[in-house]
Amino acid sequence: QTLSVSFSCMQSTNTRPSFGIAFDIDGVILRGRVPIGGSPLALRRLYDESGSLKIPFLFLTNGGGIPEPKRALELSELLGVNILPSQVVQGHSPFRNLLGRYENKLILAVGKGEPALVLTEYGFKKVLTLDEYASYFEGIDPVSEYKKWTTVPVVGRNDNFKNLVPTCDVFTERVKAAFVVSDPVDWGRDIQVLCDVLRSGGLPGTTNGHQPPLYFAADDLEYQAAFPVERLGMGAFRIALENVFNRVHHTPLQYIAFGKPKPIVFKNAESLLRQLHSSRHLNHVHHEDFASHSFRALYMVGDNPSVDIKGARQAGHPWISVLTRTGVFHGKENHEEFPADLVVDTVEEAVDYILTKEC
Ligand code: G3P
Ligand code: MG
Repeated sequence: QTLSVSFSCMQSTNTRPSFGIAFDIDGVILRGRVPIGGSPLALRRLYDESGSLKIPFLFLTNGGGIPEPKRALELSELLGVNILPSQVVQGHSPFRNLLGRYENKLILAVGKGEPALVLTEYGFKKVLTLDEYASYFEGIDPVSEYKKWTTVPVVGRNDNFKNLVPTCDVFTERVKAAFVVSDPVDWGRDIQVLCDVLRSGGLPGTTNGHQPPLYFAADDLEYQAAFPVERLGMGAFRIALENVFNRVHHTPLQYIAFGKPKPIVFKNAESLLRQLHSSRHLNHVHHEDFASHSFRALYMVGDNPSVDIKGARQAGHPWISVLTRTGVFHGKENHEEFPADLVVDTVEEAVDYILTKEC
């Protein structure tokens, strides 16, 4: 898929817009799978009549559970514009930077959707979902017989997994790291099995091992989904796991959480927006040209003050925070603890403001 970018929102004929936009997804663009706040129309304004991208923008979400190219297709269908994989940054996207450490090591993928597929597409070779892993250990979940839902069969997830089976003996090989890729589905079982893995040093049933690293894609306490009131997010699961783990184990849980509001997420988004900005001239742009480009303004449009707005505020110049009322935040005035630079009702209003100001 090639990117056709014709920047027509320009200060003069030969300059391209010196601003970009990062959109949060849940509570700004979608609720569940339903577009909100006039998002399809708002995004359409960022393309020209031929459907080419006019303004550099991307999605910066703490959600995930499916590979970025697949999410880009799904978003394109839901929103009616052509979204590229490079325009989708999910909470787990930075996990690919850990490939050097775990490429051929046994790791666990936790969460809804296709967490193991996400990691195998990043290049990790020995990935088991927690469902798959738990299914090897009879009785590891003492209440499983009361669960009415079906579970993924041990063999048959994909070719990658089939190749893995003969080379991996889960009863002798220790898990080297656990990745919480997306919101966990079966909290009780996941807390049980993660405690087993982490307190044993990577092999349930053994004792006294060193805790393998634990990575969370994000740490949102709550987020806006389809239900009218916020839902518990990955951060809530982290608190539950940490509390239980710290009661059953002698040393506190060690973990690393990625995602907004971490400053590195905004640095990375800035660099991706710079690449989108330069992409029209990718073949003949000088490296200095790309590296030295600096945006006058980058807008973060989000619904969660303690995640999106806090993150943009911490990131500082050139980030400008825009808070919508379509998700976690519903206040009349600005948020007290993390006030945004601008508060609007919807993403449509946000885009209208940005285009009026910048073009
Ligand atoms: O699970 C998704 C949630 O934690 C946040 O998604 O798009 O609001 O960053 P988003
Ligand atoms: Mg949100």
